[in-house]
Amino acid sequence: MSQGVKVGLLGWGTVGTGVTRIFQNSQDLLAKRSGTTITLGKIADLDITRDRGVKVDRSLLTTNAEAVIQDPEIQIVVELIGGIEPAKGFILKALKAGKHVVTANKALLAEHWDEIMSTARDSSADIYFEAAVGGGIPVVQALNDGLAPNHIQGIFGIINGTANYILSQMKKGQSFDEALAEAQAKGFAEADPALDVKGGDTMHKLVILAAMAFGRRVAPSDVHVEGIDQLTAQDILYAREELDKEIKLLGIAKQTKDKQVQVRVHPALIPGDHLMSAVHGVYNSLYVIGDAVGPTMFYGKGAGEMPTASAVVSDVIFIARNIHMGVAGNVPSVYYLPQAAADSLPVEPIAELVSQYYLRFTVKEEIGVIAKIAGILSEKGISIEAVIQKDAHKENVVPIMIVIHQAKEKDVTAALETIDKMPFTVQPTLKIRIEDID
Ligand code: HSE
Repeated sequence: MSQGVKVGLLGWGTVGTGVTRIFQNSQDLLAKRSGTTITLGKIADLDITRDRGVKVDRSLLTTNAEAVIQDPEIQIVVELIGGIEPAKGFILKALKAGKHVVTANKALLAEHWDEIMSTARDSSADIYFEAAVGGGIPVVQALNDGLAPNHIQGIFGIINGTANYILSQMKKGQSFDEALAEAQAKGFAEADPALDVKGGDTMHKLVILAAMAFGRRVAPSDVHVEGIDQLTAQDILYAREELDKEIKLLGIAKQTKDKQVQVRVHPALIPGDHLMSAVHGVYNSLYVIGDAVGPTMFYGKGAGEMPTASAVVSDVIFIARNIHMGVAGNVPSVYYLPQAAADSLPVEPIAELVSQYYLRFTVKEEIGVIAKIAGILSEKGISIEAVIQKDAHKENVVPIMIVIHQAKEKDVTAALETIDKMPFTVQPTLKIRIEDID
């Protein structure tokens, strides 16, 4: 056996603590799986005094990240600080020093994909990021290896545990705020919960998945993003009871017929009997369709200390094995086409999307309102599939749900702009896309 591989940790928060816990509990397993001994060489965090309930040799602790990056014995640097700076500077420095890097930092990868990938390539260093998408679910490795011979046709992901937790709790009758507070208390949420509920975190993960699936970067600004903060418990209930559908926050990356890709994040109505509808709470799921394999599905905990630590340490084991075999840095860790680095993927504008929609109007209870709405929709060539009217929940104000047949997004938007200006409209109309997931 070689002298073993030393790992340096940057950031000792929730996930970092989980990583040290795995090192404490599963040292033998790590050695058996990698063929070499893997040990923690240094741990850097601004706070090294807080008790994390895990045993580590205190001489490993430092408040100086540079001491980790510059340590000649450390071959793998694990970045778990999160955010753009200083994480980005540390990662680039570590790669340039020839160290392999493991990171869970989805925001950084999404925003600076090319710079990080090309620095890794130029330095013959590996970068692995299983924990950046889907918490403990090994979907990054699946895209890299298990699905390697496939042209990926579509990815549909429930990839934000907090948002999925909130939707699941709202279905059980909890308010949005109560559910968010619980998710935060359980350590699922981002430091800024707006990233979870407004779709930004799902967007970051989707950008990474799309880059891996299609071999070229997707500009974050090209992704259409909507969150779950406009949804009410009533929408979730109507979807279930009237339409046999579930509302999920989806990240979608899909090839179109004319060689563009759709990359969009938004709540979607999906069939109640689809497997993705059974994904509740903090669980994440990815439905990935390849041209050879057909549909595949991945499921597991998408956030939290130990699931995310599991993904981080899986990358560490993988790299340690490669170091042991003398191949680390020689095989690209990600399917990536450097010649296309300058060009983002051509993304279909959301206005061109053709979809079915659920529309929830909030209007005054007056004679002829449905007729007027139907008239405006028909002027745009939009055909109605179903109309549901519920009892007034406030005096003289009623929700009207209309499901429309396939239509172009820009026509739907234009019709809603007109309808929302009508004197009978009490609240802006909510529009949720209906996805078949196939
Ligand atoms: N805030 C994220 C989530 C954590 O809720 O999924 C994992 O990326």
